[in-house]
Amino acid sequence: MTHSITMFMVLISILALANGSYLYPQFYDRSCPQAKQIVQSVVAKVVAKEAHMAASLLRLHFHDCFVKGCDASILLDSGGSIISEKGSVPNRNSARGFEVVDQIKAALEKVCPQTVSCADILALAARDSTVLAGGPNWEVPLGRRDSLGASLSGSNQNIPAPNNTFQTILTKFKLKGLDIVDFVALSGSHTIGNARCTSFRQRLYNNSGNGQPDLSLDQSYAAKLRPNCPRSGGDQNLFFLDPVSPRKFDNSYYKNLIVSKGLLSSDEILFTQNQQTMQLVKQYAANQELFFQQFAKSMIKMGNITPLTGKRGQIRKICRKVNG
Ligand code: HEM
Ligand SMILES: *[C@@H]1O[C@H](CO)[C@@H](O)[C@H](O)[C@H]1NC(C)=O
Ligand SMILES: *[C@@H]1O[C@H](CO)[C@@H](O)[C@H](O)[C@H]1NC(C)=O
Repeated sequence: MTHSITMFMVLISILALANGSYLYPQFYDRSCPQAKQIVQSVVAKVVAKEAHMAASLLRLHFHDCFVKGCDASILLDSGGSIISEKGSVPNRNSARGFEVVDQIKAALEKVCPQTVSCADILALAARDSTVLAGGPNWEVPLGRRDSLGASLSGSNQNIPAPNNTFQTILTKFKLKGLDIVDFVALSGSHTIGNARCTSFRQRLYNNSGNGQPDLSLDQSYAAKLRPNCPRSGGDQNLFFLDPVSPRKFDNSYYKNLIVSKGLLSSDEILFTQNQQTMQLVKQYAANQELFFQQFAKSMIKMGNITPLTGKRGQIRKICRKVNG
């Protein structure tokens, strides 16, 4: 029995190595068999109360992985030598869901103390959120460990800004081992969730310094956005990224881009700036199943960005701080 378990672990390790990664879905099967179920049930309860939270949890995994890898660095509060990533430009007044992660972690600590990492919680919660919103399912590779530090500068520099150029965003993806297909598919996350006025105001009034709005934005849509997103003030006012079906994970995001109704510049440029991404947008708009399949693949790829494994990092007891 012990022998066959050992052989199984060896086999898993070989498979993981061949795959170029040390993460695998069965990581907690013996140490905390209830782990996935506990995460799912808390996320389901929270999303049932507040559908918006599905989007916020999905985004946290992205903002974690692009900074020092998927290591829960985004969850650390400031203290000691740590300067929290929560204060970065992309996260400040925007990233949310930290209390939900606390709640998931507390539920896990009761059943399996110091076993399930905060980084894996983010990966599982992102998947569960996607499924609960009506999107694709996938098996989440697990075994990430939690960082001992955070990187405010990494959060400011690595996470794309909504007014970055096509090339700048693509470069930021490539620096994380993601390609142009991942860029298009993962942007499909904007089929759910909200953006603040400040994230797209530039497009409404003075897009390139000539006092003109962004003409790649449907002008009647722009006119509807302006009252709640004036030239000054209202920075934090919220708008749906996909007004057609704001809480449903579907392919309407891509359909919006084709009719010039992508809310963020970083959304619309997928259709206007590059032939390959334009073709992908058309394909995903025409075929939701194709989008779902690629989204799942790209999420696994994103979740594999330089995780801490083995004895590196730690399993935090509280996701907001390193163990004392
Ligand atoms: C391609 C480059 C990307 C850019 C420039 C970008 C930018 C943004 C911006 C500006 C917002 C609105 C934030 C606010 O105003 O408070 C947002 C929201 C969101 N982003 Fe992205 N994003 C990108 C890629 C991604 C990826 C890869 C994912 C997930 C895999 C993602 C998931 C989300 C979600 C779900 C929301 C809504 C969050 C909420 O409602 O709480 N984004 N993004
Ligand atoms: C992008 O937005 C930031 C913040 O609003 C602004 O400072 C910057 O000038 C903008 N960049 C471009 C190229 O428009
Ligand atoms: C638009 O922006 C440019 C450069 O940022 C500035 O010089 C100009 O005054 C602005 N125009 C308007 C109409 O706000």
